[in-house]
Amino acid sequence: MSTPGDYDAVRKDIVAQLKKPDYDDGSTGPVFVRLAWHSSGTYDLKTDTGGSNGAGMRYEAEGGDPANAGLQHGRAFLEPVKQKHPWITYSDLWTLSGVVAIQEMGGPEIPWKPGRTDLVDDSKVPPRGRLPDGAQGAEHLRFIFNRMGFDDQEIVALAGAHNLGRAHIDRSGFHGAWVNNPTRFSNQFFKLLLKLKWTRKTLPNGVSQFVYADPDLEEDEEPLMMLPTDVALIEDPSFRTWVEKYAEDKDLFFEDFAKVFAKLIELGIRRDEKDAIVNTDNVKGGYLSAPKKSDTATGPVRAKL
Ligand code: HEM
Repeated sequence: MSTPGDYDAVRKDIVAQLKKPDYDDGSTGPVFVRLAWHSSGTYDLKTDTGGSNGAGMRYEAEGGDPANAGLQHGRAFLEPVKQKHPWITYSDLWTLSGVVAIQEMGGPEIPWKPGRTDLVDDSKVPPRGRLPDGAQGAEHLRFIFNRMGFDDQEIVALAGAHNLGRAHIDRSGFHGAWVNNPTRFSNQFFKLLLKLKWTRKTLPNGVSQFVYADPDLEEDEEPLMMLPTDVALIEDPSFRTWVEKYAEDKDLFFEDFAKVFAKLIELGIRRDEKDAIVNTDNVKGGYLSAPKKSDTATGPVRAKL
């Protein structure tokens, strides 16, 4: 057990979880980034609900949302870190794991502040349906991300995270990676969006995505892919200007991505001048680290107070 507040020790143990030769492309980094994003991207500005406080995915209501399929792997990879540093909340651990993973995979340094509190039951878990659907287009992206308080430039910068990881047929129904080196953070996603010819392909499960029909592809290689929402970024003129800028200027992308990811993981969080979180949940509940959700699917678990 480390000293409470020793976030450097936590960071080191997150780094130690990144390399996993038998998992996906050999790294847990991409799934950590997606975990951090999905735990924050439920925010609704109007009602001030959802967001990175709470770690609601420990409860079936949020963890069992089909939009979060696969993120149980990310949460399980972080469990040894939580056990070693039981004082950190899940909501802090999950957001920190995204930040650490991005940096370790060659991305920018992203400011991260601690203090999130975990929900102690599922009564404040945000409703499902707040995360984006990859099968849709530009209008849907604006509907989803404007609700969180992001504009066009921020939407494109955030979507640049699809430079990492892959889609899994048994999670989202889509299949494949966006770039050839999906464990290295770069602006390759934007470059490939503009450079390659993306054609619609319906997978055997009926899901429609875009692929690059590379004539040099070996038989055992899979084609690069894009989601319909990714292709919408080059079809919509306002989004496209930002794709072009980020494809051309990696430093600009890194700078903007760091800013917007930092904003993402602070959604729903209010702090005082000393950076302490002042959300009512936190004031009422104190700095409570809620117990781990049961590993078996027993439905919502009510924590004992
Ligand atoms: C713009 C709207 C977005 C849509 C529609 C979308 C959709 C998806 C889908 C369908 C997958 C595949 C999941 C799977 O099958 O495992 C995925 C993966 C991923 N997404 Fe997004 N996403 C969006 C935005 C974002 C944002 C804002 C971030 C982070 C800033 C992000 C980070 C990732 C990462 C890192 C993966 C790979 C996960 C892995 O390898 O396990 N996405 N996304």
